[in-house]
Amino acid sequence: MTRADLTLHPSFAVGPVDRRLFGGFVEHLGRHIYDGIHEPGHPTAGPGGFRRDVIELVKELGVTTIRYPGGNFVSNHRWEDGVGPVDQRPRRLDLAWHSTETNRVGLHEFQDWLDLVGSELMLAVNLGTRGLQEAVDLIEYANVPSGTTRSDQRRANGREEPFGVTMWCLGNEMDGPWQVGHRTADDYGKLAAQVAKAMRLVDTGVKLVVCGSSNRDMPTFGTWERTVLEHTYDDVDYISCHAYYQEHDGDLASFLASGADMDAFIRAVVATADHVRAVKRSAKRIDISFDEWNVWYFTRWNAQEGTFAIDEWPVAPRLLEDVYTVADAVTVGGLLITLLNHADRVTSASLAQLVNVIAPIMTEPGGPAWRQTTFFPFSLTSASAGGTSLAVHLDADTVTTSRYGEVPAVAAAATVDDHGTIRLFLQNRDVTAPATVTVDLNGFPAHSSATATGIWDDDPYAANTRDEPDRVRPRANETVAISGNVVTITLPPVSWTALTVA
Ligand code: AHR
Repeated sequence: MTRADLTLHPSFAVGPVDRRLFGGFVEHLGRHIYDGIHEPGHPTAGPGGFRRDVIELVKELGVTTIRYPGGNFVSNHRWEDGVGPVDQRPRRLDLAWHSTETNRVGLHEFQDWLDLVGSELMLAVNLGTRGLQEAVDLIEYANVPSGTTRSDQRRANGREEPFGVTMWCLGNEMDGPWQVGHRTADDYGKLAAQVAKAMRLVDTGVKLVVCGSSNRDMPTFGTWERTVLEHTYDDVDYISCHAYYQEHDGDLASFLASGADMDAFIRAVVATADHVRAVKRSAKRIDISFDEWNVWYFTRWNAQEGTFAIDEWPVAPRLLEDVYTVADAVTVGGLLITLLNHADRVTSASLAQLVNVIAPIMTEPGGPAWRQTTFFPFSLTSASAGGTSLAVHLDADTVTTSRYGEVPAVAAAATVDDHGTIRLFLQNRDVTAPATVTVDLNGFPAHSSATATGIWDDDPYAANTRDEPDRVRPRANETVAISGNVVTITLPPVSWTALTVA
């Protein structure tokens, strides 16, 4: 049994929890759009060809903003291909994922789908094969009400009102050699600054995300952020972070502690952004848009990659269809804890991705849709975390990991809402031992009830599949108790828990 003593106090405020922290990501990739969210022949399909069963699951997941259309895809995408009469749209080579893009679903159709799921569009512009003029054309098309060529084209294409997109990504992972149109930090920084200025001339109300490093292991990490922000600091609002984690060689202890790595990543990017701020003597603060994060078994994807025949450009192939386990869900829960603990600077984030592609929701063509294990920590956090994020004072036993050294056996984040309801999110990273947790709430007015729901299983590698879609479900933790504003709970090994104190 390990031990963790937590203290919470109303004055330990980190910052307000921005609802954009619970964003998602939909890329034209594999079976995400086609045979995922869009399947006109499916028994549940509505008028636009969108699966209603998927829409219901996306609503239940509780994703706020949705980043679109990529990802790597955006870097050789022509947005004009996806608007206008569907039967006249071109079929294009998608160089990023070696597929054929039919453009059957484009900006209008995707916004129609977002209207059905109730999420906000976050749009990326192509700064790989394209540049300033195309980005300005797109924002004119999307956000100008009427009276110009592009805005009237949108109206003629069926959308009288502007899309009104606030969140814009200035390209995607431009530091990555795999990116079509990959650039140096200097080249990208200059281009991004010019594009940002011009987009803001069209619409002063936009929020702009400049590309940070593709991950913390990139050789240019740190210098990339500094150089790009030196060029763009005055013109952008966010810098992006991307991180994917996986269990390497059976090292479950390190995998469960992935949140510690994400924590160090965020601290480093905040420090770099604040360094540029200091050098510029700027009053402005740059926030982080953590617009790709998840568990992704990247090594499995690398093993699949190969050479392709020149005539081999499939439509919606099965790509990146990871099946997630309880351990993956507990790690995703740990990453959410880290994001909440940085709510003052991480004010936008996107779980990557949403349906079929490294996704919390899976579908079969003509068949069912179901929730992967990773669905649950996200939906439970999005549904309950709110108000103000609180720093948790943690005095806990540690576990030893080969990747991250000694880390607390229990990770924790907390929020308090306007009604005084306290939510705690807890991860037991110990692979074998349960954790006894005591939470001291004596700084708060008296609370009288405590309930807890979580994810754990005798088999940490249990998963939901088409044949067994409900093998793993959230379960009530009956060990929770409250007495005199002190809450106690026992967390099973390899578990993630959402605790409500009211
Ligand atoms: O999410 C899958 C891919 O991961 C995205 O297209 C890219 O941005 C990242 O490398």
